[in-house]
Amino acid sequence: MRGKFITFEGIDGAGKSTHIEWVAERLRTRGPVVTTREPGGTPLGEDLRRLLLHRKMDLETEALLMFAARREHIAEVIDPALARGDWVISDRFTDATFAYQGGGRGLALDRLEALETWVQGSLQPDLTLLFDVPLETAAARLANAREPDKFEAESRAFFERTRAEYLRRAAQAPQRFRVIDATRSIDQIRVTLEDILASI
Ligand code: TMP
Repeated sequence: MRGKFITFEGIDGAGKSTHIEWVAERLRTRGPVVTTREPGGTPLGEDLRRLLLHRKMDLETEALLMFAARREHIAEVIDPALARGDWVISDRFTDATFAYQGGGRGLALDRLEALETWVQGSLQPDLTLLFDVPLETAAARLANAREPDKFEAESRAFFERTRAEYLRRAAQAPQRFRVIDATRSIDQIRVTLEDILASI
């Protein structure tokens, strides 16, 4: 049987990364789990990640490189793992491109939809966990983090647009998305995650 594909999303500082390894551990009781991330997840993808996070570039170049890294990731990691029947957990996927390049930077969504179809065909996550927090919470969490990358250094208005686009997409595809109030404590969020995992 084909495996299931779960993605974690949210603006920088929403706290999603804290929960990925915990979810992976829970799922390991049910079968092999591959955890991966975007941009990245392959040697080429990790090279592209360094450029994407630290080099200034034209907006369309940025979107194209996100999808180039994604193509490699699907071909080398995601599709083979799903075909083996593994769980695949990715720290970000295409919703991030719609939210950051579309919402945040204002790139036309129909451009991104065309690339999505080209790169993914019919592949979509089975479940997307959207960690949602107000901007103040995200900013406070990021303030304690290491040196910000290109995206983390973006303006408040950029993250307002990014968050709004995530929430708009979640509202459009409620069967795929679960929006998680990530202002709560780690333990409270785990209770919610446990319920969600029991249903898939
Ligand atoms: P991370 O810090 O969660 O690993 O994500 C890397 C950064 O890349 C994050 O600021 C979001 C951004 N990003 C995009 O702008 N578009 C995308 O398609 C992806 C996958 C990430």
